[in-house]
Amino acid sequence: MPIIHIALDTSASASDVESLIHKLGLPIHTDNAESCDYLLSAATSGLSLVPAAGQGYGAITCDFVSGAHSHRRRFGGGNGQAIAKAIGVSGKFTPQVLDLTAGLGGDGFVLASLGCSVTLLERNPIVHCLLADGLRRACSAAQDDSELAAIMARLTLIETDSGDYLESLVQRKTSCDLAGDGWRDALQPDVVYIDPMFPERKKTAKVKKEMQAFHAIVGADIDAYNLLEKALSVAVYRVVVKRPSGAEFLNDKKPSYSLDGKSTRYDIYTLKKLPS
Ligand SMILES: C[S@@+](CC[C@H](N)C(=O)[O-])C[C@H]1O[C@@H](n2cnc3c(N)ncnc32)[C@H](O)[C@@H]1O
Repeated sequence: MPIIHIALDTSASASDVESLIHKLGLPIHTDNAESCDYLLSAATSGLSLVPAAGQGYGAITCDFVSGAHSHRRRFGGGNGQAIAKAIGVSGKFTPQVLDLTAGLGGDGFVLASLGCSVTLLERNPIVHCLLADGLRRACSAAQDDSELAAIMARLTLIETDSGDYLESLVQRKTSCDLAGDGWRDALQPDVVYIDPMFPERKKTAKVKKEMQAFHAIVGADIDAYNLLEKALSVAVYRVVVKRPSGAEFLNDKKPSYSLDGKSTRYDIYTLKKLPS
């Protein structure tokens, strides 16, 4: 695990810094502190994870208001995008999606932009802080942007391990089955989405600099195999797994079909025909 310190940015509010220290238990960086790999900086412009000098890659910030996310929201191709087809989004169906691997929320934001309600689960405390900060800033920007406000209202972030969360859904389903009650409540997802960390590829120029930093913080999701069977037992319509093109299937389980792109593949495990 890399060494991370909290940077004291002059624009940071004392309460933001205090809550970071309290939540993450990281030390404040001082001139005479030991060297560290990353600085977590809480500036008024947002929370960012900045690699220490010399590592050659960029800062990670979660930004839904400008840049790539905002551009994709406006010009990204709507329901024609591969992720939309994989999830089954259409003019007639905008499913309730449970995203088991939220990360920095990129995929979840795309789906919410297309009208889906998305519950984002993230267990890594630093990634969760970065995502929560990005969502918070997008919510404030949404005060002047009704379209963005509608998207933000469709996103819910929960800091938890998805395996535990799914287990609680499975238990709920089991007790309803035992009591003879049909199980279909607000928590049951139409579609479950899983995008585990890809195994780290060679550090070619193709691997985005931020992804290298992200890999260093999160590592490989070696327990992702735990999620698929539970996901299949709680989803209504389908489970979708995002994989690198050419990678083996999660759990070696053959999907119903796949959508293969240049670098990414979506494996779709269907359970029930989508509403049309
Ligand atoms: C490849 S990233 C997801 C990227 C995301 N789809 C996006 O568009 O930004 C995988 C993320 O899932 C999280 N994760 C992996 N397994 C998890 C689990 N069992 N529970 C919660 N989060 C998990 C990791 O911490 C990591 O942040």
